[in-house]
Amino acid sequence: MHKDLQEILISQAQLDEGVKKLGERISRDYAGRTVTLVGVLKGCVLFLADLAKNVSLDTRLDFMMLSSYSGQHSTGVVRILLDLKESIEDCDVIIVEDIVDSGLTMEYMLQNLKTRRPRSLEICTLLDKPSRRKAQVPIKYTGFQIPDKFVVGYGLDYNGIYRNLPYIGVLKESAVEGNNTCR
Ligand code: IMP
Ligand code: MG
Repeated sequence: MHKDLQEILISQAQLDEGVKKLGERISRDYAGRTVTLVGVLKGCVLFLADLAKNVSLDTRLDFMMLSSYSGQHSTGVVRILLDLKESIEDCDVIIVEDIVDSGLTMEYMLQNLKTRRPRSLEICTLLDKPSRRKAQVPIKYTGFQIPDKFVVGYGLDYNGIYRNLPYIGVLKESAVEGNNTCR
């Protein structure tokens, strides 16, 4: 376990199992269709790569990058930093997100992507932290529900670090406010 963590919340084996199940569900639900997985950068990267490998359908991948977080707190104001490359009109779109916390990011994504007239639009999140929800967003696919703790790993970061950990862990208090440089 990384020295900055107090505990591992979801192990690599549990992640593998949970992500496989999500991929299988999506494959069943969209049988015969082509799906467009829209990953929300950067947190989606590890999850999306593993999820896509478990989807046995023709699959398109596209990405958006949004800003709303700084450190451990959402600023609540969402901005598009990078937009989709392709049109999603008439497509079956699944937004792939690392974690839904306040729900404000997903509320914004749903509103924004709906205006592009997809055939269908759903949310698939690896983690759901329902205790701090401000916007009630419909989540079709959830990997794991977690308590109100700040977690890192498997794509999730604190000030840009820890995304590469192959499990989900809880950060130690002492690691919060630590350095965020490349040193
Ligand atoms: P929301 O708009 O509050 O739902 O925030 C969603 C985004 O906040 C996620 O995509 C994450 O990037 C970030 N986030 C929320 N909770 C955590 C956490 O516990 N660890 C790391 N990032 C988080
Ligand atoms: Mg994110």
